[in-house]
Amino acid sequence: MVYIVANWKMNKDSKQSKSLMNEIVCFDFYDSSKINVIISPPTIYLSQLKNRRSDLAAQNISNYSNGPYTGEISSKMVSEYVSYVIIGHSERRQLFCETDEIISEKINQCNNENLKSIVCFGESLESRNKSHHLDFIRKQLDNIINSYDKSSINNLILAYEPVWAIGSGNSATVQEICEVHDYTRSILNDNFGKTIGTTVPIIYGGSCTKDNAKPILANLNVNGLLIGGASLDLMHFKSIIKEANEVT
Ligand code: PGA
Repeated sequence: MVYIVANWKMNKDSKQSKSLMNEIVCFDFYDSSKINVIISPPTIYLSQLKNRRSDLAAQNISNYSNGPYTGEISSKMVSEYVSYVIIGHSERRQLFCETDEIISEKINQCNNENLKSIVCFGESLESRNKSHHLDFIRKQLDNIINSYDKSSINNLILAYEPVWAIGSGNSATVQEICEVHDYTRSILNDNFGKTIGTTVPIIYGGSCTKDNAKPILANLNVNGLLIGGASLDLMHFKSIIKEANEVT
């Protein structure tokens, strides 16, 4: 299965969201048994976009299950609308001070509701420039993986998103992506054994476009894409799914 995840972030109004979703659910050119298109709109639009052909993902949930947390939304609340939740996006880590501990708590909240977590990890520009990126990633991955056991690991999708590649127009190269995805796969295999380790999808995000989608997806340990900017444009997003369909 190839996962194509659209992260709309804090974009589109209600009308625009409905109209983009209406177009996406009409895509009939790809094989949905091989490609899973997942749309992650702003949380407030989840209820109006429910019951469509595409799966939905929440962009965030609270690390608490319920109680006096003004403005927060729990995993149970979103579970009525979504099968997936994006957790630990670098924008949340950086702009909203999400620590590894908070990310573990959010993963636990998802596991409690049997929601699948799309958990993001990826190095800063500084650690990439110093060639410390694998150490940087290892710490994040250990924290994520420690939140799972053999019975819950099928709820995990890992998303490698180097911070410097997000929204910059400067995607990681295929070689850089493969180095990290292969490394991640070996960590999963070491922790869970090869039979289980190879089943965890590892997707890539960071300036994905219709031009780089195919060469990135053509690699063994790349199981999908997490797309920000390019997913906001109908024709661009359609082209990316077309490219993915050719690789599967
Ligand atoms: P981008 O965003 O495709 O605009 O780089 C990806 C993401 O933040 O998930």
